[in-house]
Amino acid sequence: MTTIREVAEKAGVSATTVSHVVNKTRFVSEDVCERVKAAMRDLNYRPNSLARSLRRGETHTLGLILPDSANPFFAEVGHAIESAAFGRGYSVILCNTENDQNKERLYTEVLENKQVDGIIFVGAGENRESISEIVRDGLPLVVVDRDMGSLDLDTVTTDNHQGGMLATQHLLALGHRVIACISGPSNITPSAERVTGYQDALKQAGIALQPALEARGDFHAPSGYSAALVLLALSPRPTAIFVCNDMMAIGALRAAAQLGLRIPEDVAVVGFDDIELALYTTPPLSTIAQPKQEIGKLAVQLILERMGSVLLQPRRCVLPTRLVIRASSTRS
Ligand code: RIB
Repeated sequence: MTTIREVAEKAGVSATTVSHVVNKTRFVSEDVCERVKAAMRDLNYRPNSLARSLRRGETHTLGLILPDSANPFFAEVGHAIESAAFGRGYSVILCNTENDQNKERLYTEVLENKQVDGIIFVGAGENRESISEIVRDGLPLVVVDRDMGSLDLDTVTTDNHQGGMLATQHLLALGHRVIACISGPSNITPSAERVTGYQDALKQAGIALQPALEARGDFHAPSGYSAALVLLALSPRPTAIFVCNDMMAIGALRAAAQLGLRIPEDVAVVGFDDIELALYTTPPLSTIAQPKQEIGKLAVQLILERMGSVLLQPRRCVLPTRLVIRASSTRS
């Protein structure tokens, strides 16, 4: 007897898609429908009515794809997502891609095969192959944090450019003029937007950009430590550093302390995310807060609404950031 997987393989789609064509449980493009129906005819496939009735209901499970579940920002957003989903009767399957786009594609296939009802997705980089497959297979999808610009999808991001400007304007207001920046990975849009905010704030203050004051990290603490050692060896030494996430800022605090520099008197440091740890560094870290709880709740709300109606216009939600001033930038 022909199986659903044999039909899926012949049609070049996932078993989930074949199921949705047979059960009419989700929108599937006409082209894909025709390919699936042709494969069913060629293979003389007869849907199993008992299996179909079992499958008619949802699995009440959501997939969550994160690039680094060990990073406190994603841990806190993931916690908010799980809590909001649980409150609506849904379980969450967490997939950690370690910023590896091959793992990202693998986990996308795993979640489809497990017939999750929708996927909340934070990309490992700029590659859109994984989400294109999800969209093609008609699975509800919400993109979080890392915008996939060219694709018109339900998206929840924060105003990273505004956050970069807020941090830099805060340092300018404290009298700093030689302000360095430690950015995240070059293929991550939020980091690039924060750096542009930093640059625009300097330009607005009439301060020329200096490439030597911009160092690259990878969003992990060791890279912030290494980048800060390089920046703090410059002459003249920067008196302030804007760091594009809190984990790298914690590394930068360590580097300054190792050089015997007082914080904030000799060098002020401002991070980005406002993870829970930011309150417990020495000194406590000034940072740009991302609304992590709101991000999680909104992502779950959007995916459940999308599951209820594939015809909804895509919603692109950009949440504001907020400056949180602590002792790493000013004692006052
Ligand atoms: O700390 C991890 C960073 O990656 C966060 O700033 C988040 O916005 C993501 O882009």
